[in-house]
Amino acid sequence: MPIKKICCIGAGYVGGPSCSVMAMKCPDITVTVVDKSRERIAQWNSEKLPIYEPGLDAVVRECRGRNLFFSTDIETAIREAELIFISVNTPTKTFGMGKGRAADLKYVEGAARMIASVAAGDKIVVEKSTVPVRAAESVLKILRANNKPGACYQILSNPEFLAEGTAIDDLLNADRVLIGGEDTPEGQAAIHELSWVYEHWIPRSRIVTMNTWSSELSKLAPNAFLAQRISSINSLSAVCEATGADVSEVAKAVGLDSRIGSKFLQASVGFGGSCFQKDILNLVYICECLNLPEVAAYWQQVIDMNEYQMTRFSEKVIQSLFNTVTGKQIALLGFAFKKNTGDTRESPAIHVAKTLLDEGARLHIYDPKVDSSQIMHDLTHPMMTDQPENVKNLIEIHSDPYTATNGVHAIALCTEWDEFLNLDYGKIYEGMMKPAYVFDGRKILDHKKLIKIGFHVQTIGKRLQRPLVNRLWGSPNQV
Ligand code: UDX
Ligand code: UDX
Repeated sequence: MPIKKICCIGAGYVGGPSCSVMAMKCPDITVTVVDKSRERIAQWNSEKLPIYEPGLDAVVRECRGRNLFFSTDIETAIREAELIFISVNTPTKTFGMGKGRAADLKYVEGAARMIASVAAGDKIVVEKSTVPVRAAESVLKILRANNKPGACYQILSNPEFLAEGTAIDDLLNADRVLIGGEDTPEGQAAIHELSWVYEHWIPRSRIVTMNTWSSELSKLAPNAFLAQRISSINSLSAVCEATGADVSEVAKAVGLDSRIGSKFLQASVGFGGSCFQKDILNLVYICECLNLPEVAAYWQQVIDMNEYQMTRFSEKVIQSLFNTVTGKQIALLGFAFKKNTGDTRESPAIHVAKTLLDEGARLHIYDPKVDSSQIMHDLTHPMMTDQPENVKNLIEIHSDPYTATNGVHAIALCTEWDEFLNLDYGKIYEGMMKPAYVFDGRKILDHKKLIKIGFHVQTIGKRLQRPLVNRLWGSPNQV
């Protein structure tokens, strides 16, 4: 059965861009992205899309209304499609068994139940959401237990590897497309159908097929490996600060080993994003459930090192500002978890902001793409504070980096936005309280130039000062 209609449940960071690219590359297929949120669908149908992603606007503009549709009519889209992607979110559980670690599959289960209740005829159901290994089994059980007469299901795992900020390119030129399915004639036929969709633009050699469980684990594994590299280089950044080595030089030397390679070796204030922490916690939980405590402890350490790095950065700010930030004004430049996205999920900036707010600092926050309502939401969320009104009084959100830094004691740079490279730091210095501090959590600024202007500068993995005595980041009176 050639695929003519595709439905995608979940119009988020994954479902929206991946289906938009699919519609662009498969003009012979109608792609409908559905979501329970009316507001989100209205945004997808408007001029201002709900997510910022370079290149996405042009893709949506080309296909929307032609063979790409965004709708809240979930039932009709499911009924009409031969192939259904499940792209709903799978947040870490905040209560009960596996709290703080296991993925909460309630939305995936809800999507499966919805499919079972309305679908008739053959359907290929594809897990795109990140799920624990063997989740497909649960989806299949729900579907087959609620089978309507004539309905027949195949479940495939087809994890998404796009990174935010480069999603369109990642989708257009994917290194690999994984498709996992059952080793039965029907399972193989379903794999073949989905593969055919991708073959519209991905070379066959990059489409890898495997069993469902391998595919599910192969989603978690690369994220765990990538995060592990960042935690490894971040652990060495502490050694660099204590010894006088420069972590960028070390990373360059390490990356030149062709067996290791140079990517994901950029030391930073810590990694963020919706996937790394969540997927590793999920892996840790799975290992614990499988009675593999040593494996669980091994991966947990990647998360612990990330926490340590974010804490180390915040402590550095506090120590440098004479061990107290109470009542002091601090500018946070950047709030997104990395540049070229407006996404703040698990952003290290949230961690830094919370630590400084807990110490009574007043924050002036500027990010070129994050809405002020999102920043407020992140910092006043019940998981963050039980005194949201107090926090609100301590935060000011700016739409300009110069007003954000005017009159502050220190700047903490948390996101590596390109525009921060070209700010007029002479002008900023003039407007700041003295001594004026810059804490470069991304190691992107021209530190020599800043020191020449008069700033006291601290960064990650490099001493910009005389030998230090302090175990963590050096004593406050250096540089
Ligand atoms: C994705 C993956 O699906 C997730 O498993 C992965 O770990 C992170 O990336 P993402 O697209 O980033 O999630 O999530 P989000 O942007 O929150 O989008 C999910 C969408 O699904 C939301 O728009 C939400 O409204 C929608 N949804 C959720 C439904 O339509 N129905 C539901 O029952 C639940
Ligand atoms: C990641 C994976 O890269 C992607 O394949 C998967 O589908 C989803 O999770 P994403 O979270 O969008 O993508 O961003 P990524 O570019 O991987 O960055 C994650 C975090 O690591 C960011 O906070 C980034 O700033 C940080 N990072 C990245 C570093 O600190 N150093 C590096 O060298 C690279």
